[in-house]
Amino acid sequence: MVKVSVPALVEGAVYVPGLPKEYVSERFGVALDDIAKLGSAENPHGPSPKAMEALAKSNLKLDIYPDWTAKPLREAIAKRYGFDPDCVVCGSGETEVIALVIRAFAAPGEAILMHNPCFPIYRIYAACEGRSIILSPMGKDFEPLVDEYVKRLADNPRIAFITNPHNPSGVLLSEAQVRRICDAASKDTLVVLDEAYIHYSETDGLMKLLPEYDNLIVLRTFSKAYGLAGLRVGFGISANPELIRPLRNIKPTWNMGHAQIIGASAAVFDEEHVQRAVATVLESKRFVAEEMAKMNRFRMVPGSRSNFFLAEIVDPGLDSTVVFNRLLEAGVIVKDGKDIEGLGDRYLRVDLNLKRHMERFLSALRSIDRS
Ligand SMILES: Cc1ncc(COP(=O)(O)O)c(C=O)c1O
Repeated sequence: MVKVSVPALVEGAVYVPGLPKEYVSERFGVALDDIAKLGSAENPHGPSPKAMEALAKSNLKLDIYPDWTAKPLREAIAKRYGFDPDCVVCGSGETEVIALVIRAFAAPGEAILMHNPCFPIYRIYAACEGRSIILSPMGKDFEPLVDEYVKRLADNPRIAFITNPHNPSGVLLSEAQVRRICDAASKDTLVVLDEAYIHYSETDGLMKLLPEYDNLIVLRTFSKAYGLAGLRVGFGISANPELIRPLRNIKPTWNMGHAQIIGASAAVFDEEHVQRAVATVLESKRFVAEEMAKMNRFRMVPGSRSNFFLAEIVDPGLDSTVVFNRLLEAGVIVKDGKDIEGLGDRYLRVDLNLKRHMERFLSALRSIDRS
């Protein structure tokens, strides 16, 4: 076989996504409808009805190129949040915007700061083409240690990622803590505030800080509270169009198709759907917390303000992969902490979803708790 030279470094961990229902159904013989899919943080109520309606009504001109900058979607997002459309860049999922940010603002060899653990994609793209990674530790229950983070900002990383609420812990930094980080970052550091899960925190998020910091960019996705993970839409927004321009210039030219533009332009105004998901998640969180408090071998790590939480495996005789596999056999898909670098084999990340799915999760966990 011919050896292909790969200039980008592709060594190290790869992203491990939550398993699909079809795989688990086939492998363990559980009916598709009964499976509790709690490993991908998707919306309990499906896609935004406003997006579905707009797509059904649209005359998708699939023979014609879309606007290469997704202008109608940039305009809709700008209108929703009160910015200029030139302050918005759209990507095929927020994941694409993260990749663009890293390529545009950190040259090979330069440093990128992030929490440990964090959304694995930051690490994977940062490591590509030889960037260096500065990790900032988290507390016992994964509370962000702002002093530690600020200390590392003194090394002048080119990019500093903050995830708010954090993935995988769901912990939310306060406005004062985020301000402290923005104030401590030098003008040579781009601060990236990833608000993929912000709706579940029941706050408006911190786009309001954008006019105060011209080295700040906020990232969001339509995959979570809008229920459009399969559509693939995310965006970056900044009050400083000079941060957005390079992202637009290096993005794959027609990265957004007509369906992405039409669906997300409608979803961004679908507050009713977002609120329905938030209400379900909060109710499930209360229910699961109460039930897990009665268990001996597992603990719900407190503090999540997101649509997932960490379950700690307290019993030293078990590890995350053993529990992950036992849950799979019972038709419950979660995320094995071992697949999230820096989290390790004492934790699972579990989505908050419909009560019947949480009941299935709890019942499967109870059977391990007692065995
Ligand atoms: C913190 C965080 N940011 C960004 C994303 C990317 O979402 P998407 O590419 O589906 O928009 C995710 C997805 O899991 C995430 O957890």
